[in-house]
Amino acid sequence: MDTLLHTKNLTIHFGGLIAVDSVSCSMGNEVLGLIGPNGSGKTTFLNLVSGIYSSTGGKIEFQGQDITRLKTHEIRSAGIARTFQTNRLCEKLTVLDNMLLGLYSKQNTSWWKVILSQKTHYRELKENISTCLEVLGYFNKNLIDRKYELIDTIPLIDRRRIEIARALVSNPSLLLLDEPTAGLNQEETANIVDDLKRVREKTHTSIIFIEHDMGVISTIADRVIVLNAGKIIAEGSFEEISKSEEVRTAYLGS
Ligand SMILES: Nc1ncnc2c1ncn2[C@@H]1O[C@H](COP(=O)(O)OP(=O)(O)OP(=O)(O)O)[C@@H](O)[C@H]1O
Ligand SMILES: [Mg+2]
Repeated sequence: MDTLLHTKNLTIHFGGLIAVDSVSCSMGNEVLGLIGPNGSGKTTFLNLVSGIYSSTGGKIEFQGQDITRLKTHEIRSAGIARTFQTNRLCEKLTVLDNMLLGLYSKQNTSWWKVILSQKTHYRELKENISTCLEVLGYFNKNLIDRKYELIDTIPLIDRRRIEIARALVSNPSLLLLDEPTAGLNQEETANIVDDLKRVREKTHTSIIFIEHDMGVISTIADRVIVLNAGKIIAEGSFEEISKSEEVRTAYLGS
């Protein structure tokens, strides 16, 4: 397995609290489930990998490149995209405008280029729109027809789809998803899982997936890492980690 992402002793302190504590792990081209009780450091780990937080110790390598000290936009350009635990869509923009924001870091045009070369700008915009609509179509073809509607008219499940689609338009090698099914009912959750399986087949993008629903993890994750109090307490297939006494104790309490 070629290593895509590797962390070595990755650590972050918030005052006296060690939210991520010497985490060393590797992943290849796969879907990695990241689980653990509330407050165990899952979101903080994604925040470190995506450059939102700067680690207090350790190292992060992505495709052989040291990205530990890169800024968020540099990490994005290197090929890591993400969604957030809470909705980050712009409610007063249309579906298409929200999608186009996902390509912002890839855009070549600056304001002076737009003025000097309108033709190039329009060609680029046209290409971007067609990429956005293609990726939306992986999820729900109805969203293509609703492209000019404002986000606040779109149901929650489709907003989730748009958030994931927006992260995907830049064609990342690694997609970080923070609880993409939170707040959805069982049927909607199953639909998102199907969408993600389809996306994985089409794009082969690797995914780190934070999820509380063990049913979801067992269907979609090739491998699982379990965090507790910032440390990895188990790693392996879903079957392997579910047999671990330490994992049971972390979830159920001693
Ligand atoms: N910016 C911050 N400042 C201070 N403490 C923080 C900060 N971000 C996270 N923490 C703390 O770090 C710990 C891990 O938080 P994190 O959000 O990573 O947990 P989580 O595993 O994602 O939990 P949940 O399942 O509830 O989303 C928590 O104790 C949290 O309060
Ligand atoms: Mg979290």
